[in-house]
Amino acid sequence: MAPSSDERYEPPESFVEQANVSDPGIYDEFEENWPDCWERTADLLDWDEQYDQVLDESDAPFYEWFPGGRLNASYNCIDRHIEAGQKSHAALKWEGKRRETRTYTYQDLYGEVNELAAALRDLGVEEDDVVTIYLPMIPELPIAMLACARIGAPHSVVFAGFSADALATRMKSADSEYLVTCDGYYRRGNAFNQKSKADNALMGLDRQVTTVVVDRLGRDLDHSLDDDQYDYEELLLTHAGTTVSPVARDAEDMLFLMYTSGTTGQPKGVIHSTGGYLAYAAWTSRAVLDLKPEDTYWCSADIGWITGHSYTVYGPLALGTTTLLYEGTPDYPDRSRLWEIVERNAVDVFYTAPTAIRAFMKWGQEYPADYDLSSLRLLGTVGEPINPRAWKWYYKHIGGEDCPIVDTWWQTETGGMMVSTLPGIGTMKPGSAGPPLPGIGARVVSEDGAPIDPGERGYLVADRPWPGMFRTLYGNDGRYREEYWEPFSEGDDWVYFSGDGATIDYEGYITVLGRVDDVINVSGHRLGTMEIESAIVGVPGVAEAAVVGGQHETNGTAIYAYVSTDHSRDPDETLRERIVESVEDAIGPFARPEAVVFTPELPKTRSGKIMRRLLENIANREPLGDTSTLRNPEVVGEIEAAGRDD
Ligand code: WTA
Repeated sequence: MAPSSDERYEPPESFVEQANVSDPGIYDEFEENWPDCWERTADLLDWDEQYDQVLDESDAPFYEWFPGGRLNASYNCIDRHIEAGQKSHAALKWEGKRRETRTYTYQDLYGEVNELAAALRDLGVEEDDVVTIYLPMIPELPIAMLACARIGAPHSVVFAGFSADALATRMKSADSEYLVTCDGYYRRGNAFNQKSKADNALMGLDRQVTTVVVDRLGRDLDHSLDDDQYDYEELLLTHAGTTVSPVARDAEDMLFLMYTSGTTGQPKGVIHSTGGYLAYAAWTSRAVLDLKPEDTYWCSADIGWITGHSYTVYGPLALGTTTLLYEGTPDYPDRSRLWEIVERNAVDVFYTAPTAIRAFMKWGQEYPADYDLSSLRLLGTVGEPINPRAWKWYYKHIGGEDCPIVDTWWQTETGGMMVSTLPGIGTMKPGSAGPPLPGIGARVVSEDGAPIDPGERGYLVADRPWPGMFRTLYGNDGRYREEYWEPFSEGDDWVYFSGDGATIDYEGYITVLGRVDDVINVSGHRLGTMEIESAIVGVPGVAEAAVVGGQHETNGTAIYAYVSTDHSRDPDETLRERIVESVEDAIGPFARPEAVVFTPELPKTRSGKIMRRLLENIANREPLGDTSTLRNPEVVGEIEAAGRDD
């Protein structure tokens, strides 16, 4: 748990003076005008057809935002800025391997997005076909997303670190027959083969898939391509100079699908709409990240997750900002990598995750101290609770005690930020995200849905819809209702359940405590314990497995797997390796358990349920409390001993 500190920080006057939003009256304005207040977000976009209504609640919790409106996301992120005279303005800056850089102006972006959109169409992609994108952090990733958006084909970006199996599961679930991937990519100086993972995934699919392959490694692609695989570069050449009119989409049409982890072994396809999502991403980028077209803005998250979708691609580009992306890791070739990038690009606003900040802290302040970070105006964090110590370190050593910090709570499902201070208005309290954003109905409630007293632990919910919200889960309206809406709704009062625990203070500041379900957050990567467990129990010789999150100094949470074997097998190193391999094959190396602890049995209640809480306590070396309700209390000592030897 990350308690908030009692300290308070005010935004510097110099920031407030230039802030996009600095009038505290905005909270009341939104309340008094709800839901019409949300027109303000839609006004940030250009619409082909004006919407008839702001919000249609008639089929709640299947809400519709801006129904009747029509627009195109790629037009809003590119064309309109060119029409406004910004064609030479940098849209995208990319930092590849050391010192390898590329800049795309809005005109360059327009050219490549159009050529790729034309090529995809020629390959057979039609409106509403889901295109899977499996690319690392190279400019072709946002370009492919925008090309899909241009022709009305929803994209489903799968994080490049996912395994072949995970890619196949997601393509199958989304009925996707198109894939954009690359030959490989660089990480810590090594070249990784991405295409072999993609090829393996395709072998497991029972449908024909058309693939576009980006040549990232600079080796000849030709001989490695099959009949239905196309070289990205050649496609661009054959479509050089071609333009495609942006397809007008209904506000409610799907812009993209994003798979995320939940409480079951099956990942969920979260659906985001074109109108509400884009309006909300643009609005929060303006109000919370304070983005302006002349800014160079950097979100260090991978575009393979929602943060990169909303706050590297759609939000900043909708506002005509320069958005930066980088390939690799913060400590390669050395621990100054990020600060060098900030200095070289004179970054104005920087958005990252607490796990990264904790790593910077551990490495020491001398790395940022060597660089000129004075261009920074605002800092942000997302993805996990930030402890006050890390907050203060970030404030002092990166922000020079001169930049407000926005600690933004949100989720894949919410599409954009929900709880945060507004940087030009709010007092900051390290460790506490802040009040709900204007118009957002985030609340902390007890199990029965009643508001809780300040300081008590409760559940974080939202008692009103918002434009950036997801619309449903792909092909699974039932799970959408059951998991997110049924736990706290009563009658027609629909309440969204986030899956997080939280506290609230007397001033309405919310401190997020973390997940209360079987989802864990490892270095900002969201994982379901069930997904990991099913990979482990698939290993011959394993009888049962329980996976829990234990606290970890830099990663926030680490994965602890408790495993019992069947009669055929004694636990040994080989089995441990198999277990780790199996998790890497099913999900990816980022899901690798920190520890695999063998135990003759898992601790169970008399009714046979695995006591996960107890395992969590063991992983965290916390007091175990009462174990007398266990059917097999004797295993506890053995597990503790095995964990210590590990
Ligand atoms: C956690 C990432 C505390 C939370 C945008 C949530 C946070 C999960 C914060 C969603 C924050 C996100 N403080 N916890 N500022 N932001 N979380 O879907 O547990 O990858 O439910 O979206 O991250 O993770 P997801």
